[in-house]
Amino acid sequence: MKTYLRMLRMIKPYTVQLVFAVVFMLVFSFMSIFSIGMISPFLKALFNKTDSGMVLELPGSEFSAPLAENSTDKKGSYDEAGISHEGDHAQSAELAEQVQRGTQQPKTLQPETEEARRARYEKLKGQFTGIQSVKLKFSEWVTGTMLKGTKQDALLRICIVFFLAALIKNIACYFQEILMVYVGQAVIRDLRNQLYRRLTNMPLSFYHQHKAGELISRATNDVMVAQQCVGLSFTKLVKDPIFLLMYLAVALILSWKMTLMALVLMPASLTVIIKIGKRLRTLSHLQQEQMANLTSTLQETVYGIRVVKAFAMENFENRKFMGQSQDLFKQVFRINYVMKLSSPLTEQMSMIVALFLLWFGGSKVFTGGVMAPDLFIVFLFMIFSMVRPIKSLGAVNNEIQSGMAAAERIFQILDSTPEPLDDETGLQLGSATGKVEFENVHFEYVAGEPVLRGVSLQVKPGEVVALVGSSGSGKSTLMDMIPGFYQPNQGRILIDGHNLPDLNLQSLRGNMGIVTQEVILFHDTIFNNIAYGLTDVSLTDVQAAAKAANADEFIERLPAGYETVIGDRGLKLSGGQRQRISIARAILKNPAILLLDEATSALDTEAEHLVQEAIDRLVKDRTTIVIAHRLSTIQNVDRIYLLEAGEVVQVGTHDELLAAGGRYKELYTMQFQRG
Ligand SMILES: Nc1ncnc2c1ncn2[C@@H]1O[C@H](COP(=O)(O)OP(=O)(O)OP(=O)(O)O)[C@@H](O)[C@H]1O
Ligand SMILES: [Mg+2]
Repeated sequence: MKTYLRMLRMIKPYTVQLVFAVVFMLVFSFMSIFSIGMISPFLKALFNKTDSGMVLELPGSEFSAPLAENSTDKKGSYDEAGISHEGDHAQSAELAEQVQRGTQQPKTLQPETEEARRARYEKLKGQFTGIQSVKLKFSEWVTGTMLKGTKQDALLRICIVFFLAALIKNIACYFQEILMVYVGQAVIRDLRNQLYRRLTNMPLSFYHQHKAGELISRATNDVMVAQQCVGLSFTKLVKDPIFLLMYLAVALILSWKMTLMALVLMPASLTVIIKIGKRLRTLSHLQQEQMANLTSTLQETVYGIRVVKAFAMENFENRKFMGQSQDLFKQVFRINYVMKLSSPLTEQMSMIVALFLLWFGGSKVFTGGVMAPDLFIVFLFMIFSMVRPIKSLGAVNNEIQSGMAAAERIFQILDSTPEPLDDETGLQLGSATGKVEFENVHFEYVAGEPVLRGVSLQVKPGEVVALVGSSGSGKSTLMDMIPGFYQPNQGRILIDGHNLPDLNLQSLRGNMGIVTQEVILFHDTIFNNIAYGLTDVSLTDVQAAAKAANADEFIERLPAGYETVIGDRGLKLSGGQRQRISIARAILKNPAILLLDEATSALDTEAEHLVQEAIDRLVKDRTTIVIAHRLSTIQNVDRIYLLEAGEVVQVGTHDELLAAGGRYKELYTMQFQRG
């Protein structure tokens, strides 16, 4: 319920459209009921206008008989008769008895009851005033206008009214549906955008906890399922009760006793609907999870197709996918097994009620009971018409329950705490000088498994510092902490003397150029990939950056040069080419702090030499922190930090460290011997 209310709150910006939609719904339902109401004058026009034309020759038609005679001059007599009969047992019983005995024709009742009827009408009017007076007006209009003149005239008039009613009804229906689709889709768009914004604002650690495929599934499948509960279900949730209430009101007016009888059986079907809905919610949760698993596998396979093929794992992946696909199939079937039950069940139960009334009321009509035949037919129409909205409300409950399961999964993400990325939070760094300090920094991704253990380092503005150490020693982690991707569990990181948590994250990251270990390129042109994150960049700037990164030459050879679109993850480029593009990107940004994680690892010796030159040029006026495996590339840096298992074990220049012996010398000798 809470989730649903939350979804409904998202409709707020579209109140105007919603109000119009509800107005159209009202018009639509009113015209529908009006059409059913028109059946009564239609039947009268067909059968009752002439004395001989009485097809439904039942005692109850006494009320139509006077009408046939006085239809034009006795306004309202039909109506009064219709109402006055309501609940008037004594008279009905008496009437039935008389008919059975054959002693008195219904017609003879007329002069005697005229006064009494009026009095009774006045009394009842007090009880039912509101809706009743509408009905009175309707009847007056029927007898006064519709049934005037010859039978043919009346019939034509009724047909025209039927047509107009249908026309208005259908126009209203169309606009109502269009408006509801607008509102539903607008809400879904907002939800999708909110979700995407939240996803992009989540800290990196969030992405370690969720599989990419699962997040994709939430943003697509779950949003789509949740849409049902705002779009479709909301329409039904407003429209069906309106219909139901209107039908109910008219049915109550026609015969409150029979209507109440019908209502007695309602709770039974309601219980069934609620039970089914509850079960569905649990099942839908599972279904969405399985859908996410499937998306995940699909995404991983597409992403890693090279490895799948290289290891001839196609069949393995196929089996894995088929297993998950089968699980989803079973789950969907399990859901439908329950869901599809609700519609026939409610219909069957409503049918029992309606048929009971048909039988019971019908025989009453035979024996001159409850109401005039034409009104009884209208009454039955009302009762039978109630089946549809009841059934649809049962179905809507199902939709809401599965929609809610999806919405809960979306709100879970919307409720996670994002990084404080907005412009106002924190200290604006402006253009930094590039001083970086670590004070006894401890960090762990998983509690109890420290990755950094008391790291301290100082980098003055303009210095070039290298981080070396064996794989898994924490170099990339340390570097990731400088732009604030992760917060230390203990200790402080200072940029330009400011404690990192105090700084505005965007202004901090604006000062950094990062070349990651794993090169990320977007499905876009080379120009846009290099200029990523910058506005108003000229081609000359981009070319200069590419030249500095030794990328210009191969880019110019591409068919569309800088306008060449590179595939997802830049698959159409070689590893070294991708790396050079990512270096060009960092060069173009001209940051105060440059972070290079294995920036030259994918290059051959010649290209590395060229890029190294570029980097040497680049690092001149800025603070640079490089991670390098090949120690030959860092011989000229100001300082080298050697990390082992999350601790700094040696610090110094290349020469100092070599002279000191120890781990660094070991590593260097090993690499040197290998060549
Ligand atoms: N997202 C993560 N969640 C949990 N543990 C992680 C995560 N990322 C890295 N680690 C662990 O942290 C340790 C340090 O990883 P890091 O990537 O910083 O090493 P590295 O020194 O950069 O290694 P390499 O030279 O191979 O790139 C490793 O033991 C790794 O298993
Ligand atoms: Mg690394």
